[in-house]
Amino acid sequence: MLRPPYQRYERLYVYHLDAVKLPPLTDPDLIGNWIEDDTPILFFHRPKEELIKELCRQHGCQVIYQADLDYADWEPGQTIEPFKVDNISVAPVWDAAEADIILDPSVIFGTGFHPSTRLCMETLIKYCRPPGTAPQSMLDLGTGTGLLAITGAHLGINKITTFDNNPLACEVTAKNVALNGYEQEIEINCADLRQEPLETRVDLVVANLHHTLLAGLFASPSFWQAKLYIVAGFNPAMEEQLLAALPPRRVKMIERRRHDRWCLWVLAPLAE
Ligand SMILES: C[S@@+](CC[C@H](N)C(=O)[O-])C[C@H]1O[C@@H](n2cnc3c(N)ncnc32)[C@H](O)[C@@H]1O
Repeated sequence: MLRPPYQRYERLYVYHLDAVKLPPLTDPDLIGNWIEDDTPILFFHRPKEELIKELCRQHGCQVIYQADLDYADWEPGQTIEPFKVDNISVAPVWDAAEADIILDPSVIFGTGFHPSTRLCMETLIKYCRPPGTAPQSMLDLGTGTGLLAITGAHLGINKITTFDNNPLACEVTAKNVALNGYEQEIEINCADLRQEPLETRVDLVVANLHHTLLAGLFASPSFWQAKLYIVAGFNPAMEEQLLAALPPRRVKMIERRRHDRWCLWVLAPLAE
């Protein structure tokens, strides 16, 4: 995340280590520690050869992979800049003069520029309109930067729970929730959806997730206790497999949307 004196991201220095767990790091140039398969991927604003050497010496680990790249190449071909979905404006913290939602996108999924996020935002807005008819409670599964949860809060949903298993995503979400003043409305859980018992008795579940995770959730009868589901993160080739994972005669397809090669479904459980 951005911490003073940094106001924006220019270059990323990335070190993927094979250590299982590192203690919290306080380096002033640290962007964050992304945990992938229980291994740390450290992102810095500046090169950190000496620090990494010392960490490896102390913890008996090795660098699996390292890279340095422009921030613009992190999401290739995509400049992170202000954008609008319907009448909601979103802007990165470094360009946030008049926006409804301010975001520190960091290096986390959920800048708002991926077609799957954009589809989720458009659909969330649709199902929260007209004003005053918004769902009251929402689960945001795989929240990334927290953008969808914050959009929900902006639309009037007052009880939102997010989940992500990447501690850096949870840190970034916490920062973005605070930046937008929704600490009362949004609860952040850093947990693995494959292991976490989920309380799905809510008005709306939003899940932009890998198709295998979605299929796992679909297979659990206790997943189907919400009133409405917005699910995304898969492409047309995966639709058949996901359709087969839906519980037979328990769920109705309300709407199917597509943006580029990304699909979104709106689902509602049928009364038993
Ligand atoms: C495709 S991104 C979606 C981010 C954001 N909701 C959006 O729409 O832009 C999926 C997110 O799910 C998280 N995730 C992946 N596997 C997970 C798991 N097993 N448990 C919890 N979160 C997970 C990732 O860390 C990532 O932030």
